[in-house]
Amino acid sequence: MNEENRIDPWSSSQSTDYSRIIEQFGLQSMEGVSLNNPSRLHRRGIVFAHRELDLVLESQRKGEPFGVLTGLMPSGRMHLGHSMVIDQVRWFQEQGGDVTIAVADLESTATRGISLAEGRRIAAEEYVANYAALGLDPERTTVYFQSQRSIVQRLGFQLGKRTNLSEFEAIYGFDGSTNLAHVQAPLVQAGDILHPQLDEYGGLRPIVVPVGVDQDPHLRLTRGLAAKTNWFNVNDAKMGLQIGVSVQDENSAIMGVQDNGRIDKNVQKKVFDDIVETVSSLGFSDIMSNPKHGTVHIPSATKRDKGAIRMALLSLERKLGGMGLLAPSSTYHRFAIGMTGDKMSSSKPKTTLFLGDDAATAEKKIKRSFSGGQATVEEHRRLGGDPDKDVAYQYMMYFFEEDDKFLAEINEGYRSGRILAGEMKQMCIDRATEWLTELGEKRDATAHQIDTFFE
Ligand code: TRP
Repeated sequence: MNEENRIDPWSSSQSTDYSRIIEQFGLQSMEGVSLNNPSRLHRRGIVFAHRELDLVLESQRKGEPFGVLTGLMPSGRMHLGHSMVIDQVRWFQEQGGDVTIAVADLESTATRGISLAEGRRIAAEEYVANYAALGLDPERTTVYFQSQRSIVQRLGFQLGKRTNLSEFEAIYGFDGSTNLAHVQAPLVQAGDILHPQLDEYGGLRPIVVPVGVDQDPHLRLTRGLAAKTNWFNVNDAKMGLQIGVSVQDENSAIMGVQDNGRIDKNVQKKVFDDIVETVSSLGFSDIMSNPKHGTVHIPSATKRDKGAIRMALLSLERKLGGMGLLAPSSTYHRFAIGMTGDKMSSSKPKTTLFLGDDAATAEKKIKRSFSGGQATVEEHRRLGGDPDKDVAYQYMMYFFEEDDKFLAEINEGYRSGRILAGEMKQMCIDRATEWLTELGEKRDATAHQIDTFFE
C-alpha cells in the first residue's frame, strides 16, 4: 500500500474521498442499511459506512444485548467534530446498547506528550462534562481510563502475540524510529475495543465502535487480531456453511494434538461432538462432521444463519477455555469541513467551534467562515451559491438544524441564489448561538452527574 492510500489515525490531514475509502478498505456502505429510527447523521448520509453493523442491528431487533464502545484522546478542548461520535453513541444507547468509553490517557501520553494527571483532568472537565450535557445516560455509560484497567492492557499484550512489526508498518507506516509507546498504543486500543465482551464486563455480545474514518486502521487491526484467536471459523461453502477448526499453540492439547504431534482421536472426537451439539441446538439437522479435515459442514444453513452460529461457537470456545472474541462492528462518519475551508483541527481554533465557545466567539468564527457564495450579490443572484462548500450551511446540516425539510429548502434557496451568503451565515449564527447556549445550560444542570460516569 503506498503512502497516499494510507489512513494515518494520528494525522490531522484526512482523505475525503469517501467512496474510494469504502472500496479500498472494504467497508460496507450505509446506503443499503435500513434503520428503524435513523438519526440526523444517518438521514443525511454523514454516517456513511460500517463493518458488520447487521450483527448489532439483529441483536437490537431481537431485544438481545449489545454494547457500544468508543474512546477519546484527552488532549485538548472538545469541539464539534468530537460531538459526532457522541451523537452516535447516544443513538445506540437509545436503541438499547450499553455504553463503554475509553479515555485514551496512555495513547495521549505516548503520542501527544500529555501527562496522565493532565489527561484525567481534561477527560472529566472537557469531555465527560459535555457527554452529560449532550444527553448520555450516566446510569448506562461507563467511562474508564486505559491506564487504570489492567485487563485492557493485559489483553493488548496478549493480542500482541498475533501481530508483528511488518503488519504495523503496513497498517500505520511505522518504521525503525517509531517509539515503542506509540507501537503499543494500537494494541491497547484493541484491548479497549475487545474487553467489554469479556465475562467480567458484560459477556459475549456484539460491540459496535462508532468512529471517524481515521480510526479504521485500528478496527482493521483489532478485527484481524480477534479472528486470529478464534478456534472455530464459519465460512461460506458451496452448499450452506462450513465450520473450520483452527488448531493453535493455545488449544492444541484441547483439540487432541499430543506433544509428539499425534492425534488423540477420542479427545478430538469430543471437540467435534461439542460443535455438532452446539449447531444442532440452534435447530439444524444433517450436520456433517469431518474431524479428519478439521471441518463441520451444515448444508442447510444460509448466510443469514452465520451470525447465530458464530456466536454459539464463540460461547463454546469460551467453555473450552478460549477467549471467544467476536470481531467488533463499526460505523464511520464523514468529517465536517473546518470553518476556514481546511481540515478541522483542535490545534487550530479558527477551524472549528469548541463546545465551550461563547456566542460572541461563535459569531465571529461563523462570520469569517469559508463561504460557498459568489463574489458579488449580483453574481450570486445569477449563478447561485454552493451549499456543499459553504461552511455555514454545512454546519447547520451536520450540527445545528434538526428539520430536514427546512434544510432542503435553504439548500435549494442557496443554490438558486435566492438566499445570500450573508443570510446563510446569519441563520447559522442564530442556530449555533441557540445550540451552544442550550448546551451550556445543560452542562450546568448535569455537572453533578460527572462522577457517575466514571466507574
Ligand atoms: N485513538 C482514538 C483517538 O485518537 C482514541 C481511542 C482509544 C479509541 N481507544 C479507542 C477510539 C477505542 C475508539 C475505540 O481519538
